Amino acid sequence: MMDGLRLDGRTAVVTGGAGAIGTAVCRDLASLGARVVVADVDEPAAAATAAALNAARPAPEAGAGAAVGGGDRPGTRPKGGPADGAGPGDGPGDGAGTRPGDGARVTHLAVDLADPASIEEFCGRVGPVDILVHNAGISIVEPFVTSDPAGWDLMWRVNLRAPMLLTKLLLPGMTERGWGRLVFVSSDGARAGSGGEGAYAATKAGLFGLAKTLAREAARANVTSNVVCPGPTDTPMLRRIDAEKPGLVDKIARGIPLRRLGTPQDVAGLVAYLCTDRAAYVTGQTLSVSGGVTMQ
Ligand SMILES: NC(=O)c1ccc[n+]([C@@H]2O[C@H](COP(=O)([O-])OP(=O)(O)OC[C@H]3O[C@@H](n4cnc5c(N)ncnc54)[C@H](O)[C@@H]3O)[C@@H](O)[C@H]2O)c1
Repeated sequence: MMDGLRLDGRTAVVTGGAGAIGTAVCRDLASLGARVVVADVDEPAAAATAAALNAARPAPEAGAGAAVGGGDRPGTRPKGGPADGAGPGDGPGDGAGTRPGDGARVTHLAVDLADPASIEEFCGRVGPVDILVHNAGISIVEPFVTSDPAGWDLMWRVNLRAPMLLTKLLLPGMTERGWGRLVFVSSDGARAGSGGEGAYAATKAGLFGLAKTLAREAARANVTSNVVCPGPTDTPMLRRIDAEKPGLVDKIARGIPLRRLGTPQDVAGLVAYLCTDRAAYVTGQTLSVSGGVTMQ
């Protein structure tokens, strides 16, 4: 394998890790050697995701792979941080077969990103985090003029406020250890506009300014901050829309230069790359994974 693509010794948190794109991100990060925490409000789904990814994990290659819990490379040890062994395995919601002590590379920890107290509790229990993938997101689709401000508030809390608070709480550990990765999963809907998604797009567009500012503030500590924007991606969310409006998804796919919907794996590939040392010089960027729909 090309140098600089392994993540052995790193710990990654993936919010919304039990969802379609989140699961693909967890799989890729774990396959590169990271210890991964599936952070999701849907605890049974998070536990099932962690268990499935651990069960599907191939035997480690000789010489590759670090002990679970990591810390075998520069920038992974907290300076005066929580004691070794503290981490997701000690937190709430750890299911059978997903504890680090069991040799699990993927663990899970419940968090409700709409609730600041839950986020604070999560950050207090998760242990040192090197890679933070802000993937969770909710979308309420309705014409803007008839949309309900209660829905705006929920999307603001989950899609933008939660990434802000999580970063505020977890970035200091990355800067102290001198290495970190922040990846924000936004949406092409925020770059290009998307009918029925005014409030969603507003919250997702907020991530652009946040990520660029963090890229500047954290650069000297070797922490990069980037945004990944999926275009239409073949997920249960999109299939639900297709069930309501038959033919819409085919129509969308025909309008994509690469003539197909994206897959969760397409998105995960870019997220994973941004987390590696090969992407050490890429920061403050907003990149679409959309088959060419958005070219900027
Ligand atoms: N699917 C697409 O076509 C598409 C397109 C553009 C952007 N995106 C973005 O990609 C990301 C992932 O999308 P997906 O299609 O995999 O969605 P998904 O609905 O499959 O997964 C979202 C996950 O977030 C979790 N979640 C929701 N609310 C939460 C909360 N309050 N606290 C913690 N977790 C919560 C859900 O339980 C779920 O596991 C989202 O941010 C979405 O906005 C998706």
